[in-house]
Amino acid sequence: MALFEREVDLTGANTLRLPCVADFAARPKTVNELRRVLEVCRADRLPITLLGGGSNVLLPERLAGMAITPAFDQWWIERRGSEATALVGAGANWHELVMTLAERGWWGLENLALIPGSCGAAPVQNIGAYGVELGDALEGVQVMELATGGVRWLARDECELGYRDSVFKRALAGRVVILRLALRLSRQAAPRLDYGDLARRVTGTPTPLAVAEAVCSTRREKLPDPRELANAGSFFKNPVVERATAEALLARYPDMPCFAQPGERCKLAAGWLIDRCGLKGTRRGAFGVHERQALVLVHFGGGTREALLDFAHGIADTVQARFGVHLEPEPRCV
Ligand code: EPU
Repeated sequence: MALFEREVDLTGANTLRLPCVADFAARPKTVNELRRVLEVCRADRLPITLLGGGSNVLLPERLAGMAITPAFDQWWIERRGSEATALVGAGANWHELVMTLAERGWWGLENLALIPGSCGAAPVQNIGAYGVELGDALEGVQVMELATGGVRWLARDECELGYRDSVFKRALAGRVVILRLALRLSRQAAPRLDYGDLARRVTGTPTPLAVAEAVCSTRREKLPDPRELANAGSFFKNPVVERATAEALLARYPDMPCFAQPGERCKLAAGWLIDRCGLKGTRRGAFGVHERQALVLVHFGGGTREALLDFAHGIADTVQARFGVHLEPEPRCV
């Protein structure tokens, strides 16, 4: 097998199905193979784009240089009585990992079921859903420096996790590739059922599998399956605004969802704001606002990244004009 290929069509490798051809692409199956790919990139001065499951990226029509998708997917559990650490290769599929651990009775990741993508991508945006973020279970991240090939572990604190944010989007962006995650698991029952109607959906004694299945059914009701309708999950982050701004809006829109955050700030629901502008279910050309969840933009086919960004800017402008709130895209634009 060649270490990498030329002129690679990545249209099927991003869940938005944006047309994209990369000069070169590699799917290293081991850390050593990854090291060899990086050596080629250094020698030929090729720009590098790291990809995971392609479920949170906006790809250009032409991607210069090398697209690298780590494909090492081995994982194992180190057990210490009723606690354990799962050590997981970057290429492992996130949802499959969550379901296997839940089936084996481990608590920790069950609320994050059915999030598309790879394990290596999970810390980049600190994936979160149903009241839990990856950061709640993350013990550390093993990375390789692109410049030197050196490998080291980052402790959880060094990952600087925030809402859909981490050091991998900031100081370490374009500098490291994530090799492995260390995730904390427990046998002690710890169901987190506060979000929405999750508690109602889990009948009987909660088990990790029952919670994961309830999360899956909630997601399936609201979120389109990227295999059926191309999308990248939430297209915008939920905006975090000053408390005074939120209070002024609440005076006008008393039913507006609003969640208190540390530091006199409030998180608003971008989906609600877009919905209230009457944009849910609307379509322009190849793109549309999903009919059940206004935060998700869908691609019907035949569109490009530029057209999608144009569509998204129009939505953000409408929300800005109506509510004075700025919306930021969530997927990474490469
Ligand atoms: N809402 C509307 N109309 C809509 C969508 C939402 O009125 O079209 C309202 C809902 O009724 C609710 C509020 O907005 O009161 C929040 O909606 P929801 O609970 O569906 O969650 P969200 O804030 O829209 C976030 C995450 C999702 C995650 C869910 C569940 C972000 C950007 N999105 O969505 O994550 O699954 O919470 O925890 O934080 C993703 O990142 O791709 C993603 C799907």
